[in-house]
Amino acid sequence: MDQALLLIHNELLGTDLSVYWNSERCYHCLLQVLVNVSGNGKPGKPSIAAVAVSTQHGSILQLNDTSEEKEVCRLEYKFGEFGNYSLLVKHVHNGVNEIACDVVVNENPVDSNLPVSIAFLVGVAVVVAVCFLRFLLSLDDFNNWISKAINSRETDRLINSELGSPSRAGQLGDDTRPEAWRPSAVPLRLRCVDTFRGIALILMVFVNYGGGKYWYFKHSMSWDKVRIPGVLQRLGVTYFVVAVLELLFAKPVPESCTLERRCFSLQDIISSWPQWLFILMLESIWLALTFFLPVPGCPTGYLGPGGIGDLGKYPNCTGGAAGYIDRLLLGDDHLYQHPSSNVLYHTKVAYDPEGILGTINSIVMAFLGVQAGKILLYYKDQTKDILIRFTAWCCFLGLISVAFTKISENEGFIPVNKNLWSISYVTTLSSFAFFILFILYPVVDVKGLWTGAPFFYPGMNSILVYVGHEVFHNYFPFQWRLQDNQSHKEHLIQNVVATAVWVLIAYILYKKKIFWKI
Ligand SMILES: *[C@@H]1O[C@H](CO)[C@@H](O)[C@H](O)[C@H]1NC(C)=O
Ligand SMILES: *[C@@H]1O[C@H](CO)[C@@H](O)[C@H](O)[C@H]1NC(C)=O
Repeated sequence: MDQALLLIHNELLGTDLSVYWNSERCYHCLLQVLVNVSGNGKPGKPSIAAVAVSTQHGSILQLNDTSEEKEVCRLEYKFGEFGNYSLLVKHVHNGVNEIACDVVVNENPVDSNLPVSIAFLVGVAVVVAVCFLRFLLSLDDFNNWISKAINSRETDRLINSELGSPSRAGQLGDDTRPEAWRPSAVPLRLRCVDTFRGIALILMVFVNYGGGKYWYFKHSMSWDKVRIPGVLQRLGVTYFVVAVLELLFAKPVPESCTLERRCFSLQDIISSWPQWLFILMLESIWLALTFFLPVPGCPTGYLGPGGIGDLGKYPNCTGGAAGYIDRLLLGDDHLYQHPSSNVLYHTKVAYDPEGILGTINSIVMAFLGVQAGKILLYYKDQTKDILIRFTAWCCFLGLISVAFTKISENEGFIPVNKNLWSISYVTTLSSFAFFILFILYPVVDVKGLWTGAPFFYPGMNSILVYVGHEVFHNYFPFQWRLQDNQSHKEHLIQNVVATAVWVLIAYILYKKKIFWKI
């Protein structure tokens, strides 16, 4: 999978070639030896070496004359899945004796992204079909017609229970409605928050199940390969710290906010100044350790992947200070041995993506989530105030990310790095989170344009779905024997079905009112 066949034809008689390869995605990396092709072929019968090349990203190929270690030619090429290619290395006699390296396609690659496009279109079709059905059912004429056609009582029951939108806290945001609309004894549960949690969780389940074995689903999301201990421990520590912080310092929402509906514009932040102070102190510790802690044998403030990255100058510096602290305090053996940087950068030392230093930033991230909750509490029912704050946070965090990263993947002061939980990763993700809440809150809770289905079902049972998907992932219907283990299509179908089954399970549990909380 994600491979193509490359036949290297050495037509330079008497010249041995060393072929080096690297992925375009590997930043500032040392080239790696791919194969040697001898030059002892005969005219018209060159020596050929066959190699497999990765098709995930563009490839950089460099061919050297083995005896002189002199570059013969260098090219960049994006090979396609299961393609069959030839690289012809030969003399061209156009006056000067030049050497040409040309890639020829023997057999066309398959379009490995086609299944993703089809899956997406099927998803869109399902959404459109459901919307259309709901629209039909909302038409009185159509209802009457159906009622006559089948037992009317049954239809009413169906429409009210299955398709009617379950009580929406929504409609309340509308300022003209009387306050008495909501039974105040019932604690408000915001649908948009459950929906958001559900979307994140379902994406995570899909990625965890393999994401169709596409590299972009694996690397672009927030969990690569989840180990229950690491992630749950980190979540535990993170929530513990934030919860203790809030228990120690949280003040009740002032009455002026809830009753008079007038809340001083920065009250949500100012009233939690001790928490903010603590968070800023924590973040200073992260910055200080990351950029000023001397790490033996490594440049101070190194944030890179080590291994063959940075032209192989710092092979044992993976993760910089964060990696060093973990190896020092926990020892190599207790760390995760296969970080995602391993594949691309050939890292040598153990590095734990759920390490100690990164926990600081996940606490900061969780606290930003608490801040979103406070906005919803302090400015309850004041849709405009809430949306303004979501926008402000989204822009503020986004600008911090821009400043840290200089909008580039690797060149900025602090690159977005999931394995490090770098602060720019936290601000970027949180900025997106505020943006999503900015969209979901008015659509789901205020206007009630969307119930949040089907995402709020898993969102309301997130612990159960999370633990369940880990525990049962080896069992049918979450996994079965594939006919062709090398096919993205089959993996994609399997992973989409497994994810959909969890949504279905969450839906059934919701209907049975079973919720698993800790
Ligand atoms: C790749 O193409 C070459 C040249 O057409 C052919 O000789 C070879 O058998 C092909 N290899 C495979 C695995 O299809
Ligand atoms: C990196 O670590 C390996 C094994 O621990 C060691 O053999 C090697 O010399 C180290 N390299 C550098 C540049 O320190």
